[in-house]
Amino acid sequence: MASNSHQPIQGMSDIAFPDVALWQFIEQRAREIFARYRFSEVRTPVLEKLELFTHSLGDTTDVVTKEMYTLEDRGGRKFALRPEGTAGAIRYVASGGEETANARIFYIGPMFRCERPQAGRKRQFHQIGLEAVGAPNPLADAEVIALQVHLLAAWGLSGAKIRLNTIGLPEDRAAVVKGLREAIRPRLHELPEEAQQRFETNVLRLLDSKDEAVKKVIAGVPPVISFMSAESRAYLETVIATLRRLEIDVEVDPSLVRGLDYYVHTVWEVVHSGLGAQNALAGGGRYRINIGGREIDGVGFAMGVERVIASLEATGITATQFAPPPPVFIVSLGEAALNENLLLLQTLRQRGIACEMELAERKVQAQMRRANKCGAQHVIIRGDSELEKGIFVLKNMADGTQREVELPELMELLTH
Ligand code: HAM
Repeated sequence: MASNSHQPIQGMSDIAFPDVALWQFIEQRAREIFARYRFSEVRTPVLEKLELFTHSLGDTTDVVTKEMYTLEDRGGRKFALRPEGTAGAIRYVASGGEETANARIFYIGPMFRCERPQAGRKRQFHQIGLEAVGAPNPLADAEVIALQVHLLAAWGLSGAKIRLNTIGLPEDRAAVVKGLREAIRPRLHELPEEAQQRFETNVLRLLDSKDEAVKKVIAGVPPVISFMSAESRAYLETVIATLRRLEIDVEVDPSLVRGLDYYVHTVWEVVHSGLGAQNALAGGGRYRINIGGREIDGVGFAMGVERVIASLEATGITATQFAPPPPVFIVSLGEAALNENLLLLQTLRQRGIACEMELAERKVQAQMRRANKCGAQHVIIRGDSELEKGIFVLKNMADGTQREVELPELMELLTH
């Protein structure tokens, strides 16, 4: 009987056969592409000091103020389950693990955000992320976006779109905030209370608000880039021109802002029409993170694996296409044959053949049912009489034919 006490925590999932086949495909393709672009894997702890996230992601962001799973150890030290991968990856770089001038790392693993669970929004979700650490260079931003597009194609995902914008430099921030506030202030009374608070604490976040009243006001505001320095505008233009040369389509969207504070210059999101309200399957951008007094620059992205899967499924790609090939099944008749077949099972596996057998003495019909269930195309039947004659019966499950073979022929047939 199914019981709720056996379910994972709300917003978290067990990922198992057959779905896991698609997860493995996605991860394996990502590893192949990352290797081609010369990124290497880092596996950082899922638990980090709380201040790593409050300092790098920004202490007024939703992720930090509302969504982190935090805990204290027995000594009163405060930790958090990582809500994203960039902070930990950059902490690793700063720890001396990689050259800060030019580190190229990727990560694959679970992240945790205590959000209200809904379609496409989980409390434990998984990211495939990548960071190219090094001084700001618009070509590096374009290279990372090109890699991401390559990865989407390697997964066979069609219909994804990239929305791109710039956040400018920290030096632009004051002018952008001032410009936005001046443009919004005359209509401030039209905004709901929470948005009025955002106006004070983080006016940029009003740009991507889903609230209709906010959207109406924002529609009349000049694009943020118009408040930025010539340097920031030129940076964005070079990114766009480089992407055009690489024949990568992006849609420049002046209302795009990101939910994390570490970004400078380029930011982007990958969206897919197969997703619902949570339509971003990936987010990325250039950032500057201060770790222990050291500024580290980089550019990267993270793809949400659950949302990549939902997008693939919306285009008709499913886990069953990636299921492992069916095994060979061995049927035994009699105790002596059962014991000998165990040796055969091991030999076949050592030769690279996936195979299964029933380890208890059971009726032939029950064993054949199991062979059918696992999708076996070949069944080897060996009872005590075949054992005496030194032969095997090989049954082809597709046409029901069977014939007697000796060991060399059996191996030949199964390995080719
Ligand atoms: P993010 O936009 O917060 O960026 O997350 C990246 C992706 O993770 C999202 O586009 C989404 O697919 C997935 N995601 C986020 N939250 C959830 C959730 N609750 N449930 C399911 N999927 C989710 C970052 O995390 C940055 N660290 C990306 C980055 C790397 N920027 C530069 N380098």
